Amino acid sequence: MKNLKNALLLKQLYQLKQLGFQYTSVSVYKEDESNLLLPNTLEKLEKQANGCHLCELSKSRTNVVFGEGNKNATLMFVGEGPGATEDSMGKPFVGRSGELLSKIIENVLYLKREDVYIANIVKCRPPNNRTPTPTEAHTCQPYLLKQIELIKPKIIVALGATAYHYLSGDETKITKIRGVLHKREDYTLMATYHPSYLLRNPSAKKDVFEDMLKIKSLL
Ligand code: URA
Repeated sequence: MKNLKNALLLKQLYQLKQLGFQYTSVSVYKEDESNLLLPNTLEKLEKQANGCHLCELSKSRTNVVFGEGNKNATLMFVGEGPGATEDSMGKPFVGRSGELLSKIIENVLYLKREDVYIANIVKCRPPNNRTPTPTEAHTCQPYLLKQIELIKPKIIVALGATAYHYLSGDETKITKIRGVLHKREDYTLMATYHPSYLLRNPSAKKDVFEDMLKIKSLL
């Protein structure tokens, strides 16, 4: 799914599903296709995302949290969505879970935070830090897919079940799937626990440590 047209169609379908429709003969968006293609540079893509009002989350956000890091990163981390600190600063993973993620990057992978790229499934904060709805996640997905296309990471680490689910389409439990390397055409995908889960369950840190050693050996 490389353009907004598909995202808008998906959004339309989810909305119809929520209204109870089982079937629809989809009427294709009448928009001029060229308006719906995403730009081919990260700078222009970020500008477009900053003006995005495609879903409900845009109404309550303070800032769009596009993502940050090395634009040619080999390693990319994808979280679920911005929290309160990220929303106020416009940067991903800068709150408590972000501090832990930075420590993992620096002390386990022996990389600098600026060496990797960090993004989220949704670019605007879900109210009260709830999980993004499927409509919100799918509506935002083209931005993430375009980021992946432009950055071309060799490895993507999905932080938590939501990130893994929307990156893979797989609903296997995170406890079963974490640490497993999924070879894709363009990159290898691995899920591990979300740093906020580690803050609540410090005993799971050893699992993430193990997962990061696998990533380190791939780098
Ligand atoms: N949690 C996330 O999933 N993403 C962030 O950017 C911050 C916290």
